[in-house]
Amino acid sequence: MTSTSPESLIAGGFSTAASSHQRLAGKVAVITGAASGIGKATAAEFIRNGAKVIITDVNDDLGHAAAAELGPDATYARCNVADEAQVAAAVDLAVARHGRLDVMHNNAAIPGRFPQDDMASVDLADFDAMMAVNARASLAGIKHAARVMAPRRAGVILCTASAVGVLPLPAVATHSITKATIIAIVRAAAEPLARHGLRVNAISPGAVRTPVLQGKVSVMSASSPTMSDELKQMIDVDVNDMMMGPEEVAMAAVYLASDEARYVTGHNLVVDGGYTVHKGADTPAAR
Ligand SMILES: NC(=O)c1ccc[n+]([C@@H]2O[C@H](COP(=O)([O-])OP(=O)(O)OC[C@H]3O[C@@H](n4cnc5c(N)ncnc54)[C@H](O)[C@@H]3O)[C@@H](O)[C@H]2O)c1
Repeated sequence: MTSTSPESLIAGGFSTAASSHQRLAGKVAVITGAASGIGKATAAEFIRNGAKVIITDVNDDLGHAAAAELGPDATYARCNVADEAQVAAAVDLAVARHGRLDVMHNNAAIPGRFPQDDMASVDLADFDAMMAVNARASLAGIKHAARVMAPRRAGVILCTASAVGVLPLPAVATHSITKATIIAIVRAAAEPLARHGLRVNAISPGAVRTPVLQGKVSVMSASSPTMSDELKQMIDVDVNDMMMGPEEVAMAAVYLASDEARYVTGHNLVVDGGYTVHKGADTPAAR
C-alpha cells in the first residue's frame, strides 16, 4: 500500500509518472541562465518533450558544455540578461534560426551578497545589481518575447521567481524582494499580454540542489544572526537531503509551456514541497 505520510509526499509520493507523449513537439524555446541548474534541467526536459532550445548564459564554458551534452536540439548563445540588447539578440537568434519563438523562459538570477538581513546596512549597490539581473531582466525578456510573439498571437513566457518571493527568508531578505518583484511583474503583464493571445507565468521553486544554492547556504548560515539554530542545523547536517532536484522544477515548466496550460496565465506556480504553506522546519515534510 502506498504511504500518504507528509514525508512520503516529499520523498516520492507526488506523481512523477513520465509520459511518452511529447508535450512541446515542434516548439522553439529560449532559456536564460541555462548553463547549469534549473535552466539546464529545464532545457533537457523541453528537448525530451520535442522542443528546440537556445540555452543562454554568461558562463560560456558551462554553456557550450551543456549544449554539447543536450545534443543537436540545443544551441548555446551568450546573453547577459542585465543588458537589454543581449536579451533582444537572444530572441532574434531564435527567430533567425528556427523561424519563431514559442517559449521564453526568464530564468537567470544572482543571489546577491551576504548578509542580507541587517536592514540598517543593506547594500543598495548589490540590491541594484540583483534587481537588474533578476527582476528588470525578466521584464526585458517579456518585452522582447512579446515583440516577436504578439504578431503570431502565440507564445508563452515563464519567469523563475522563488518561494522566498512568496515567503521572505530573512537570510536572503533583499534577494526575496527581487523575487517578489518578478511575481508582481508576471501578474501585471498577464492581462496586457493576454490581449495579444500570450500567456505569462512564474515558477517559484523552494530549495533546489543547484550550484548557486549549494555554494551559498553555508555562507548564509554562518553570516546570518537571524537564521534559527534549527535551520542552521538542517543546513549543516544534511543540505542535500532537504533539497529537491532541478528536474522537479523543469517538469512544472514543461506543463506551463505546454498547451495543457492554455488557460493558465498570471499565475505563480509554487514548487516547494509545501514550504510556503507550513513554513516547515519543524515537521518531517520539510526535509
Ligand atoms: N536553487 C534554488 O534553491 C532556487 C530556489 C528558488 C529559485 N531559484 C531560481 O532558479 C533560477 C536558476 O537558479 P539555479 O538554482 O539553477 O542556479 P545556477 O547558478 O545553477 O544557475 C543560474 C545561472 O544563471 C547564470 N547567470 C548569472 N548571471 C547571469 C546574467 N547576468 N545573465 C545570464 N545568465 C546569468 C549563471 O551563470 C548560472 O548558470 C534562478 O532564478 C534562481 O533564483 C533557485
